Amino acid sequence: MDAIEELHANRDLPDARLREIIEGDVCEPELFAKAAEVCGGYYGKDIYVRGLIEFTNYCKNNCYYCGIRRDNHNLERYRLGQDEILACCAEGYELGYRTFVLQGGEDAAVTDAMVCALVAEIKKLYPDCAVTLSLGERPRASYSAFRDAGADRYLLRHETANAAHYRALHPESMRLENRKRCLWDLKEIGYQVGSGFMVGSPYQTTECLIEDLRFLQDLQPDMIGVGPYIPHRDTPFRDHPGGDLRVCLRIIAILRLLFPSALIPATTALGTVDARGRELGIGAGANVIMPNLSPVHVRKHYALYDNKICVSEGAAECRACLESRVVPMGYRIVTDIGNRVHSPNS
Ligand code: 5AD
Ligand code: FES
Repeated sequence: MDAIEELHANRDLPDARLREIIEGDVCEPELFAKAAEVCGGYYGKDIYVRGLIEFTNYCKNNCYYCGIRRDNHNLERYRLGQDEILACCAEGYELGYRTFVLQGGEDAAVTDAMVCALVAEIKKLYPDCAVTLSLGERPRASYSAFRDAGADRYLLRHETANAAHYRALHPESMRLENRKRCLWDLKEIGYQVGSGFMVGSPYQTTECLIEDLRFLQDLQPDMIGVGPYIPHRDTPFRDHPGGDLRVCLRIIAILRLLFPSALIPATTALGTVDARGRELGIGAGANVIMPNLSPVHVRKHYALYDNKICVSEGAAECRACLESRVVPMGYRIVTDIGNRVHSPNS
């Protein structure tokens, strides 16, 4: 059996054969077609959308790759108030979004009480919607409080499962064990959990990527987000080359075959490295898109990497743009809470 067939049949593959696929020693069109077919078995031609509200770009961390790191003083910092966030939700709801993702840097001024009040208000106004949080590492008690306030999902990429690689990407104050602990806590508390990593981050090897896949097999998250590493001019990693689009697409396809029913976004980073990156992601097995709902005047300040797309488009423009991208591919964007499907549709 070739590696693609074996991966599909077993939903697993030995390291050496994963390496063959990651490094491109297989027929890519066959790999992508198989992944898209498996995705269709669960989700048909439906593409789920999540409205992303990047509500604070303050961050106490100093990750070497990230544009909103603490030591980047060339960045205008902003924090949206509850009313501004609720206005984004109102606009998003009108446009058909039924998931709101509240994402931010690790901002100490955003207290647990503020998050709880915000989540409770959104759930009260839009009981038919899911609220996803993406606020980084917090104590378990905070995660519990957010969940009690009504939050449904939490996104926290593990970034890399390899301890030495984690150390190369983050200052001493950050710990891989702590990040993993957060993910296990989130699962135990009952969130639908999303994790993931960058493809092509500095010092990443194929072994690192295989470790990422093994960690995800252990964690069994509901959502898995991957995107290419893209340099940011005001970070220590400014001179490192960006991640490769094709490797990223192969990883998406492998993820789809390892985790057939997972929610896998075609990320903004993918759309940034290639004008058709998100479409290619869908063609390789992704089934979610997370367009920006943030007010246009703050968008350019949430700069994790250079040349991020959609910084001057409004929410309605992105919504229409996405439609015009997926419909010609034979897919449809659905107005749906977009929960994970657990068994294939017959
Ligand atoms: N390039 C690509 N992705 C990045 N992220 C942070 N910085 C970069 C970058 N320079 C990703 C991280 C983080 C997510 C919100 O964005 O994986 O978890
Ligand atoms: Fe934002 Fe295309 S999705 S402009």
